[in-house]
Amino acid sequence: MKYKLLKFNIMGDDRGSLISLEQSKNIPFKINRVYYIYGTKTNVVRGKHAHTSLKQVVVCVNGSCKFLLDDGLKKEVIELNSPDVGLYIGKNIWREIYNFSKDCILIVLANKQYNEEEYIRDYKKFIKTIKK
Ligand code: TYD
Repeated sequence: MKYKLLKFNIMGDDRGSLISLEQSKNIPFKINRVYYIYGTKTNVVRGKHAHTSLKQVVVCVNGSCKFLLDDGLKKEVIELNSPDVGLYIGKNIWREIYNFSKDCILIVLANKQYNEEEYIRDYKKFIKTIKK
């Protein structure tokens, strides 16, 4: 699985909404790390990398942004703008995140702890890795 959208169940009642994310249930891996991205300045492009082994699920819990996803063969743009949708991104996918709304908050769940060594931050190197 390279990437796909996951739809989360909303446990809503007359007080509002609640969504629960659980490892190996609605999140397809064991969660070892959570980080969040917020206060992103206008016109910033984040990401611009791929991972050789990391799996992640990104949830835009507030606001909106766009993801450019590239598997080395085709590119696709996905807009995230809803807290009940998660974007699963597997290994070897180049991603660029842009068009952040001022109020955009992204929560990212990852199956591994941070390790700069499994990042590919050079696009040409990414294409070479994919072809291997
Ligand atoms: P960076 O990889 O540039 O973020 P993005 O890919 O979303 O644009 O990360 C910014 C800084 O934060 C960089 O110095 C690495 C560090 N960082 C951690 O220490 N732990 C983490 O879990 C992440 C995602 C980043």
